[in-house]
Amino acid sequence: EGSVLEQVLGFLLGYGFGSIPFGLLLAKAGGMGDIRTIGSGNIGATNVLRTGSKKLAAATLLLDLAKGLVPVLLAKAMFDQSDAMPQAAYGPVPLAALGAVLGHCFPIWLGFKGGKGVATNLGVSFGLAWPIGAAYAVTWLLVAAIFRISSLAGMAAVCAAAAAAAVLAMESYVPALVAIAVLIIWLHRANLGRLAHGEEPKIGQGK
Ligand code: G3P
Repeated sequence: EGSVLEQVLGFLLGYGFGSIPFGLLLAKAGGMGDIRTIGSGNIGATNVLRTGSKKLAAATLLLDLAKGLVPVLLAKAMFDQSDAMPQAAYGPVPLAALGAVLGHCFPIWLGFKGGKGVATNLGVSFGLAWPIGAAYAVTWLLVAAIFRISSLAGMAAVCAAAAAAAVLAMESYVPALVAIAVLIIWLHRANLGRLAHGEEPKIGQGK
């Protein structure tokens, strides 16, 4: 059955891109050692910034964003949009989106121990529909500007993306974005504990 093949391909496309651990690779290439032994131990741009290198952090952010954006756009291009299935909640496009975030958070190459998915989900959101990406980016920037805490901005942004899809009547994207939001918040449980105790570091500081 072709549709199941398309679903599997969409998911694997997302997972393949998403599982490339750019933060780990860039920090190592930049002479910073193993990012998993620094700061929060996370492989994302926020933690790469804790090495003190803004360039490496910016490159990590851009590449982690791209690895979410590219597979979603490829899935849209590869699978016929006139067919109802790719637009379904379980179609190859939402599955590519889900796959990319799961790939980043659970990369097979690192024993399934990856990042928290905030930058990758930003790329995914822009790939699904630019207003969803815009809601995500604006929310992240607003919360970050007010509180200067990356984890808080990320959790707010992932919720905003799911809400934007619902408000904009993009029903087929809502389940994947809600699942991603739940996953990303769950992956921030250590951050939530620090936030509750007022111990979460500001962007660019501490661990
Ligand atoms: O993107 C991850 C961010 O939301 C939190 O990262 O290193 O502060 O746990 P970190």
